[in-house]
Amino acid sequence: MKIIKKILLFLLVVFVIAQFFGPEKNEGDLTSIDSFYTETNTPENVKLILKESCNDCHSDVTRYPWYNNITPVNYWMAEHVDNGKKHFNISKWDDYSTKKKDHKLEELAEMVEKKEMPLPSYTWTHTEAKLTDDQIMVLLHWVNKERFRYSLELEAGAE
Ligand code: HEC
Repeated sequence: MKIIKKILLFLLVVFVIAQFFGPEKNEGDLTSIDSFYTETNTPENVKLILKESCNDCHSDVTRYPWYNNITPVNYWMAEHVDNGKKHFNISKWDDYSTKKKDHKLEELAEMVEKKEMPLPSYTWTHTEAKLTDDQIMVLLHWVNKERFRYSLELEAGAE
């Protein structure tokens, strides 16, 4: 019994000390997202969907819930954001080539069509982020239009 108490106390101390550590937050410039919206002619309803369901992991600006103040939850979340941004970051859209932009939109369509995005671990806690069939249609319609535009640019010699 004594040993269990000691172990619990030790774990508590480790937990308390851990609270002084945390990853850097993903709280960049909101205007980096506007640039993406302007270039891809994002309609208001699409903006709302992206904001609610995608941008926390795919832009430089995450809206954090209160439990992100708890270590190690914050490290776990930072890992998702880092990984999500590595694959697709709308805040870095200007840095992508036309070919890459077209490819990212293709992947976006695929991800939402197969219901692989938003990640299930996200929709557990953000139930409103789960996409309805209507929202998926709205996203796909917009992606098709924009991919068509990029395809014309590529045909005209854009890289
Ligand atoms: C909780 C964080 C999170 C949310 C929310 C999220 N994603 Fe992702 N996304 C990721 C991660 C992590 C990856 C990296 C690949 C993987 O784990 O599947 C990724 C990968 C992607 C990719 C690249 C796929 C590839 O083949 O490289 C696209 C496109 C994408 N997500 C689109 C979206 C869209 C659209 C939404 C909203 C409907 C969304 N994501 C919501 C975390 C997220």
